[in-house]
Amino acid sequence: MPGTKHLLLILAVLCFFGKTQAQYIKGELNDINGRFVNAHGAGILFYNGIYYLFGEIKKGKTWLVPGQQWEDYRVPAGGVSCYSSSDLEHWKYLGIALAPSTGDSTKDLDTGRVIERPKVVYNYKTKKFVMWMHIDKKDYSYSQAGVAVSDKPEGPYQYIRSVRPNGQMARDMTVFKDSDGKAFLIYSSEDNNTMQVCLLSADYLSPTERYSRILVGRRREAPAMFKNGGKYYLITSSCTGWSPNAATYAVANGPMGPFREIGNPCQGPGAETTFDAQSTFVLPSKDEPDNYLFMADRWNKLDLPKSDYLWLPLTVDKGKVIIQQQTGD
Ligand code: GAL
Repeated sequence: MPGTKHLLLILAVLCFFGKTQAQYIKGELNDINGRFVNAHGAGILFYNGIYYLFGEIKKGKTWLVPGQQWEDYRVPAGGVSCYSSSDLEHWKYLGIALAPSTGDSTKDLDTGRVIERPKVVYNYKTKKFVMWMHIDKKDYSYSQAGVAVSDKPEGPYQYIRSVRPNGQMARDMTVFKDSDGKAFLIYSSEDNNTMQVCLLSADYLSPTERYSRILVGRRREAPAMFKNGGKYYLITSSCTGWSPNAATYAVANGPMGPFREIGNPCQGPGAETTFDAQSTFVLPSKDEPDNYLFMADRWNKLDLPKSDYLWLPLTVDKGKVIIQQQTGD
């Protein structure tokens, strides 16, 4: 049974996307069968009137990788899940979009590895769905971007390979598809010191040689990019492992920057820890140009499968990005 607080939140379903309603979440999200939505570091693809949610499957016992100087808590890499919804409120589990493998620890998708922050974009030219994700070893020394492809949004996705774009490290990442069809991979690079943005090839399956360094020396991760009024906004977190910190946003005239850092988009109590969460994606409203859904993870580092979610409205008001908690939170 959900607690009173949770019920209040469910009741606080707000008219968000014009005729579509989004459920703002702080806590667990259940699918239409009452099962916990297992989709962390998630992203949403809007395709043919349906929202497809993709995220990391976290299950099993959480353990701390020995010998690391940071919060290297892990569960076995569970692959990528997919859920669909027509209203961002009722989610149907569609299965495992990208399955992990077992028995060969040299394979990128082995359960002993790291598969994080999957993001899917649709390529109108090739009619393929392309998934990019962070692939790593458990000590995060591998730092590669993995790519998989499917004919159907829900998969199954066929894994192609992982790469270091232009020889550069790639950890926390997202993909941004611009209105002209160009897609960009945005990732923490250079040992998390600097982010990079790399233009993807026309089929979205490879990095091109065109890339830029952004937020140089600022140590940012958890990128989420969106566009508003011809400007490009990038929300990121600081690097404190699974522990929450203050988000900031930056703005540019193009997806490759240069980005100008503005400040914390969160307002009100809890803003200094992104309301105990870490950014993963920003979904534009299909009807209202200044309204977005800000999606974030509330990590439970000691029991990672118990991590849950924070979904809040994000608005842009004359160039200022605002994320606020809802009444009753
Ligand atoms: C976070 C990152 C997560 C995960 C975690 C591992 O900073 O955003 O995606 O990689 O570190 O500790």
